[in-house]
Amino acid sequence: MVAKIIDGKVFAAGIREQVASHVERLKADHGISPGLAVVLVGEDPASQVYVRSKGRQTVEAGMTSFEHKLDATTTEAELLELIAALNADPAVHGILVQLPLPAHLDEALVINAIDPDKDVDGFHILNVGRLATGQKSMVPCTPLGCLMMLRDHHGSLSGLNAVVVGRSNIVGKPMAQLLLRDSCTVTIAHSRTRNIQDICRRADILVAAVGRPEMIDSAWIGPGATVLDVGINRIPAPEKGAGKTRLVGDVDFASAREVAGAITPVPGGVGPMTIACLLANTLTAACRAHGLDEPEGLTA
Ligand code: GUN
Repeated sequence: MVAKIIDGKVFAAGIREQVASHVERLKADHGISPGLAVVLVGEDPASQVYVRSKGRQTVEAGMTSFEHKLDATTTEAELLELIAALNADPAVHGILVQLPLPAHLDEALVINAIDPDKDVDGFHILNVGRLATGQKSMVPCTPLGCLMMLRDHHGSLSGLNAVVVGRSNIVGKPMAQLLLRDSCTVTIAHSRTRNIQDICRRADILVAAVGRPEMIDSAWIGPGATVLDVGINRIPAPEKGAGKTRLVGDVDFASAREVAGAITPVPGGVGPMTIACLLANTLTAACRAHGLDEPEGLTA
């Protein structure tokens, strides 16, 4: 079997189009322009690229982008003061503090200072608890993107065996919660899991989010399984020339696609879904803030 390729670029473009048309209606019918504030502290090059991309896509969706670029030496008090101002600003419906923060800033303290209803990352401890207890919450963007792809491919996920490899707060744990909510039988596997290959091979749905280049190959995958690769790893590519690199996922794509039923590539799989879902979450937050119906198909 050669797997169906799930094209995240096409899927994400569809999400962005849906968001943009909802935004257009919000403006026309209610005079509301959803606003997203992105806060970047310091000059981490990868974070700068992400933040620029978030700002551009926010504007392309017809929403308002507020960018706050702060010096690497910003104090915790200064950052908390900015967050308090954004919490109080009615034009700001979503707030995202780009991670990682410089080491002198307490990430948990900063994230938990964001108004949970504006926490479009879904990282605030209240949103984590709401998701775990089945209450209305903001849902982390990457797992939300994965859920949308899985629902699109399978229809109902009820009763399917799902294995999430990786237990991070950003992907692994919320992914497991979302799959459980959709009535999957969920296993979280990690670096200490015994017989991890056997466990993964029994999965109907395998989500790889470990950050280890090409760790999962065909021996880990059951025939016909759906494989979502969340990993984005840069590795040396001497075949492209001296000093060149390329991006690979946590899954050995060439081997895995011979066994899987469907698979996301890297790049162009799960990656583009993250910002698309950030835009969807900002729209959702704006609708909730104004007591309006949430956009159908764009929430968990
Ligand atoms: N850094 C890498 N990914 C993310 C993300 O999804 N949200 C935030 N806030 N920071 C990140």
